[in-house]
Amino acid sequence: MPVETISWKNKKVRLIDQTLLPHRFKYIICDDIRTLWKAIRTLQVRGAPAIGIAGALGVVLAANSSKAKRFGGFFKDLNRSIKFLASSRPTAINLFWALGRMECVAKANNDKPISEIKKILLKEALKIIDEDKASCRRMARYGAKLVKNGDAILTHCNAGGLATADYGTGLGVLFEAKRRGRHFKVYVDETRPMLQGARLTTWELMHDGIDATLICDNTAASLMEKGKVNKIFVGADRVARNGDTANKIGTYSLAVLANHHRIPFYVVAPVSSFDFRIKSGKDIPIEERDAKEVRSVLGRVIAPKNVKVYNPAFDVTPNELITAIITEKGIFRKPYVLSLRKLRKLGYRDENKRYR
Ligand code: MRU
Repeated sequence: MPVETISWKNKKVRLIDQTLLPHRFKYIICDDIRTLWKAIRTLQVRGAPAIGIAGALGVVLAANSSKAKRFGGFFKDLNRSIKFLASSRPTAINLFWALGRMECVAKANNDKPISEIKKILLKEALKIIDEDKASCRRMARYGAKLVKNGDAILTHCNAGGLATADYGTGLGVLFEAKRRGRHFKVYVDETRPMLQGARLTTWELMHDGIDATLICDNTAASLMEKGKVNKIFVGADRVARNGDTANKIGTYSLAVLANHHRIPFYVVAPVSSFDFRIKSGKDIPIEERDAKEVRSVLGRVIAPKNVKVYNPAFDVTPNELITAIITEKGIFRKPYVLSLRKLRKLGYRDENKRYR
């Protein structure tokens, strides 16, 4: 069963502190948006869909803390908080999608008493959680069909239960394939600098009894060259209209390698990770993180303290390197400009416009 990564408990946001896993399992309680903002920024909660949910619940915290009696003042308070939450991390579109959706719901109910709007906002945030759970299950069902007995699968970062409200995107496919009785093994990239693969993905896969092998990021090429990997599944932080996909730094190099070795490269992402407002990956803002993350490993400094560092958290994989994109609405293939147009019609609501 998936762990409850993020939830609403006793009028507060409860989340698993992912920076402590796998050796310590501890919840953090956020009862104000500053604590929640810090949790997003420091990766205590991370993964695109989970960040979106954190944003939605953050809006509920903000609404509940507003003392305004009329809609004008209430909406002003809410907007300030939404902008603040939006400044936590720039790449995962799910955050802006969820914040935009919460803002639209507040606006649409501007004639109601403030106490009523607060209840409606909580209902909407819980709906976002339920929808995410349902999308994870649907993506998993589509994706599991692609997993065959004897497969050796490679994955990067963590696209599992810890990154969503249920059992994940990329890893959800694997959990579902296992549930259907498929026998396969999984290689897990450690995913420097923050080691989401080593710390989180191995933990989730082993918990489910999936055969998992941890590798250094720089081992992937040699594994492929030896014919030891035959499929790759990753998640996404933002997919552009043409299928270009931003995901954890290192994903692009895997896609290049996969194409060289003719290995299928699959992206698994819910509709909330699509940004149809942007034409291509060139427009995706890429987060650059603190130099400390590269100069050290798990808090221990390993490089000269003042060495220059370049630390982008994500890269963009061009659509032509992606074999298929698996969503809760089905599996989409090249040419993505055409196939994703169908996806847009099938269920995309353009709610991410403001805070990107
Ligand atoms: O920096 P992170 O840990 O938030 O990065 C997460 C990823 O890159 C995931 O692969 C992505 O969000 C998809 S998660 C379902």
